[in-house]
Amino acid sequence: MKTVASHQTENLAGTIRVPGDKSISHRSLMFGAMAAGQTKVTGLLEGEDVLCTAAAMQSLGAQVERQDDGTWVIQGRGVGGFSEPTGVLDMGNSGTAARLLMGVLATQSFTTFMTGDASLCSRPMERVMKPLRLIGVNFVSRENGRMPIAIQGTDSPMPISYELPVASAQVKSAVLLAGLNAPGKTTVIEPNPSRDHTEKMLQHFGAEVEVEETDKGGRVITLTGQPELVARDVVVPTDPSSAAFPVVAALITPGSKVTVEAVGMNPLRTGLFTTLKEMGGKITEVNTRIEAGEEVADLVVEYSELTGVTVPASRAPSMIDEYPVLAVAASFAKGTTHMEGLEELRVKESDRLAVVVESLKACGVDVEEGEDFMIVKADGQPALGGGEIKSRLDHRIAMSFIVFGLASQKPVTIDDASPIDTSFPGFIDLMNGLGAKIS
Ligand code: S3P
Repeated sequence: MKTVASHQTENLAGTIRVPGDKSISHRSLMFGAMAAGQTKVTGLLEGEDVLCTAAAMQSLGAQVERQDDGTWVIQGRGVGGFSEPTGVLDMGNSGTAARLLMGVLATQSFTTFMTGDASLCSRPMERVMKPLRLIGVNFVSRENGRMPIAIQGTDSPMPISYELPVASAQVKSAVLLAGLNAPGKTTVIEPNPSRDHTEKMLQHFGAEVEVEETDKGGRVITLTGQPELVARDVVVPTDPSSAAFPVVAALITPGSKVTVEAVGMNPLRTGLFTTLKEMGGKITEVNTRIEAGEEVADLVVEYSELTGVTVPASRAPSMIDEYPVLAVAASFAKGTTHMEGLEELRVKESDRLAVVVESLKACGVDVEEGEDFMIVKADGQPALGGGEIKSRLDHRIAMSFIVFGLASQKPVTIDDASPIDTSFPGFIDLMNGLGAKIS
């Protein structure tokens, strides 16, 4: 347990760079391990979640090494070329690592055992097992599709066409990764587009992936199976979901001006920045460019008087991990912020809807919780604060309420900030370097 307290601060100032994108980091290791030849990855997030993926790739027979300059070098095994791990794969806290790997393992002709921490072992895996069973995989799990699980891969996979019942990039990716080793075409239909890093990286590694927009705003993604994946270097952009914390901190802390450099601006990830701008947030994108196939910009963020807004449910997939920190911003805005379409928050690292509401209440915020919505009412003055927050193995809860305490009247304490290392090692030092008072 690592208890921290966050105290009222003014004038956050400076230029920072946040760590590499978690979603792209996981994928770069998995794709590198499935490609023929040597893949070099720069800018990899060296957080606990991604290190679990690196360890899993090694257990499956891929060579994964970190060089002194921070470059990661992977000698791939080819699609379907993994060997049976001797032990149980421990995916730690990471739903992305577990679910994407289930897709990878679906077509390896051996059985893999997989587990994770208490948070991961309480998260639903049926959403991934359901389509993978159609491909031919057998699973044994705890009740209600909870981990630990055993994955019995198939050596005669069937290509499928699958319409996602929930907007989930993890489920989409698991199906596409399984489809890599199936003959013919695997299709995923998503009613509301989710992050497309898997599609982009599959193309980067030489697979044939077609993406069509539907009339109703959805997407149809078609992968041609059994490609020869060819090793390619990957430059990982920084994580917009991590940039979210210093961005909101600068917006709500009086006198602040902070530049966050080289933030990944994939349009399917930037719903928070759109929303904060609608709230009156002074966020200026400068030096917009494309780096390694992903959009990137420097964000200049200044303290702003925010106003409450309604955030439509259709925006949820592009900011699904950002609602905890948006709820913090809303607690310092004038008026009512209505966030809709939040049902997926209940199955993240914690039940984020319940935990955010409980934590905001502990900090004196007027908040209402619905089955799939949250309403925050505030008067534009510094919120009270003073809450003792339980982070519940959820990095984004810990970071969100550290940010809250920087602007609230009374300090906020977090019972355990150690989960932050899953996605944002060095977060507290980086914030203190801007002038924050986090002890
Ligand atoms: C992720 C997808 C999202 C997101 C998670 C990372 C990914 O989950 O919450 O942090 O890398 O594919 P869902 O796909 O379950 O919504």
